[in-house]
This record gives sequence, C-alpha cells and structure tokens, in this order.
Amino acid sequence: MKLVIFGFTGDLARRLLVPALLRLWARGEVGDLEVLGLGKEAWKEEEALNRMEAFLKTLPGVALEAWPALRKRTRYLQAELTPEGLRGLQGLEGDAVFYLALPPTLFAQAAEALGALGLAEERSGFRRLVVEKPFGTDLASAQALNRALHRHFGEEQIFRMDHFLGKWAVENLLATRFGNRFLEPLWRSCHVEWVEITYAETLGLEGRAAYYDGAGALRDMLQNHLMQVFALTAMEPPAHLSAESLRARKVEILRAVRPIPDGAQGFAARGQYRGYREEEGVPRESRTETYAALKLYVDDWRFQGVPFYLRSGKRLAKDAGYVVLALRAVPPGCFGEVDRGYLVFWLGPGVGLDLTLFGRALGGKGLEPHTLRFRPEGTPEHTAYEEELLAVLQGDLSHFPSEEEVEAAWAIVDPVLRAWREGEPEIYEEGSEGPASAQGLLEPGHRWLPLGGGA
Ligand code: BG6
Repeated sequence: MKLVIFGFTGDLARRLLVPALLRLWARGEVGDLEVLGLGKEAWKEEEALNRMEAFLKTLPGVALEAWPALRKRTRYLQAELTPEGLRGLQGLEGDAVFYLALPPTLFAQAAEALGALGLAEERSGFRRLVVEKPFGTDLASAQALNRALHRHFGEEQIFRMDHFLGKWAVENLLATRFGNRFLEPLWRSCHVEWVEITYAETLGLEGRAAYYDGAGALRDMLQNHLMQVFALTAMEPPAHLSAESLRARKVEILRAVRPIPDGAQGFAARGQYRGYREEEGVPRESRTETYAALKLYVDDWRFQGVPFYLRSGKRLAKDAGYVVLALRAVPPGCFGEVDRGYLVFWLGPGVGLDLTLFGRALGGKGLEPHTLRFRPEGTPEHTAYEEELLAVLQGDLSHFPSEEEVEAAWAIVDPVLRAWREGEPEIYEEGSEGPASAQGLLEPGHRWLPLGGGA
C-alpha cells in the first residue's frame, strides 16, 4: 500500500501524522507500506528526509527506533496541486491513500488534480482520500467542498478526520451505552432530565492565531467534535457498529435537532478570554469567540423535551471533558426532596465514569448520594490520532463522519454563525468557568457541572 502525504513538509505531517505512523510502524501494525511525501519545497529527497528526522528528534515520545526502517521506504517529491505538478504520481499502481495534510482551502484543488490524472479510479487497487478538519466554514462551503470531492471520489473513498472519534473515551461511551442492556431503558427522557457535553481546556492559542482567529470555538470544537459526541449520545441504538449503521443513526439524530431560532437568543452563548486580543497574530479588535455554548433540543421519541447543553472553551479553569446525563429525581413522597443523580462519562484528561446512587443515610432517615467510580487502569493501546490513521489504512469508515453528517451538523450551527455576525463575545477571565451568559441557556433548576468539580 502507498501512503501519499500531501504537505509532507508542513506542521501537521511533522507533528502528528508521521509520529503516529512511526508508532504504528514500530508495533508492526501497518504492514507493507511505502510512503510518498509531497511538498512544495524544491528539496532533494535526502534533504527533505534529513529535515524530517531532525524535527522528529525534537518531539517528545517519538518512536525514533522505527525511523530508519520507515525512512528507507519513504520518497520525497516536489509537487504542485495541478495535474502537471503531480505528474510524478502518474503510473501509480495498487492500493493508495492520499492524505491531504494541507490547509483546507487546498482540499478541493488537490482532489481535482488527482482526479484529472485518473488517480481516484480504483482499477488496480483501492484509492482513499483523507481530509483534515475544518470541513468547510458553514453549510454552503461544506456542501461545495463535498461536491468538489465527489467530482472524482465516491463517498466510500472519503475519510473526513475527526480525531474525537478515535479517542478511547468516546469509543468507551459507545461501548458502555450499548454493552449494558440495563442502560437502554434508562437512556431516555423519562429518566434523563438534561444532558451536558463539555470540553474545557486550559490551553490558549498555542501559536495558532492564523487558523483559530478565522474559526473560533463554535467551528473549531462544537460543529465537529462535540456534535459527534452529541450524536453518539442521543442516537438510537445501531443494529451493528458498521459505518453504514452508525452513520445512518447519527444522521437521523442530527437532522432531528430542532432548528435554533434566528438570533439564537437563549440557545447560544459566546465568550472571549481576557488577553486573547494581545496574543500574537490576533487583530486587536478581534470578535472571535474562544468559548461557545449551545442548547439543543431533539424532536424524536427518545429525548423529546430534554435539553442538550454543549460547551467548549479555551483558558478555562480546568482541562475537563465529560458527558453528563442528569437523572430525574424521585418524587418527594417517601424521602422528601431528593437531589438528582448523575451518570458522568469522563472524556479526558482522566477517563472513566461516575454513577450516583442514593441510599439510606447512616445518620438519619433521609437519603444520601453515593458515587460509584470506575477508572480504568493503564493507557489505551492507541492515541486518538493513531486510531484514526489505522482506521484509514484498514478502510474502516465507521470512525469518520459522512457527507450527510457533516452537512447536518453545519445546518445546526449555521443560525448561530449568522447571529454572531453582530455583537461581541463576553469577555471572561482566564482560569474561570467561562462567560456568565452561558447560565442564560439553562432551563430552571438545571446547571453546568462545575469544571473539574465532579457531579
Ligand atoms: C482540535 C482543535 O481539533 O482539538 C483544538 O483544533 C483543540 O483547538 C483540540 O485544542 C482538542 O483535542 P485534544 O484531543 O487535543 O484535547
């Protein structure tokens, strides 16, 4: 199999892709692979590989012992994203993966050039196209990109990266939900009062102003990663964990989301951390949100009337990712007013789950909560990126959102993007819980879990 990496000399390939490939290679998981790196630099192969090697040595935790063997199987070619500029690929035979580690504005151009050379045709082996996020910047641009890719590549040839689908904790959410039959009757509106999906980060921009300031938290995290977690949490059980089943279920629930009204009043909140405008590369008057929160309702049988609260932000109090099912309280007849329990799936940095159960208080007649905690020992076999790369090489589309999912997710956030063309994000303090306006999304009696505070 050939792995053709577009943007071989770029940051994404050097920081994420090649290191992930090395770890898979070191464990003997990628089999008989040849790598062809393409870049715009007019370097001799020797120089391109020397530079890659020097860079890899500066990164922590790289499986350098595997590099000499991988290097021997790696070629470098200078290329342009035109049929003429890619003629070095002509005559490519057998199975091939084209990995576009490129800025998103170049995805369509690269796919077009490959198609024009006939390289998307699966005559002598499979042909796969991998595109990184962001996939479009709104519904219209995502549709245009899908159309452009489909000019030469079929949907089953396209792998849209969303590394959250490779996270152990996200796979575990699915495994726990569908591996325990007793959870099925509980997983619906008669037992669940609301659902919260949070991904809070302490990190700021990390030198990514050029990308991030044009994107913002809604596009960077909610439209893709959190929307996928939402879909996996809210969807109906799939009959199989195949791409076909999973995608159908996810599309169905994404399309069942009640449209957010124009203006998004009470449905969306945004913030910007104090100091963002002083970050290198950020315009002094930037209105980009570094925090976004959404409230979604789904009009289906399972979760009708149950709000889903989604939020993500940078420079917050804690690194904390979780999905919370807030369970309905019992009627007050037997024990008086009883608080509700929670089922919490931790997505990171720690993983596992917590379930609150109530029992008789030791000192009195009331109830008191007990939290059952499960924290797996050891570390997952693969990082999220390794898991995704392996899925590409194995042709497992179940890890990748379909065209319809991506478009349905954009359709959900589009009214918010429109509303946010006006006004300003609320400034919040670094190290805080985010903007106070996020409280305005909550129905009476509901709450965001305090970051890192547990249920
Ligand atoms: C990326 C976003 O997709 O996900 C980043 O572009 C974000 O802004 C990152 O920090 C979060 O994922 P993880 O797995 O690194 O915590």
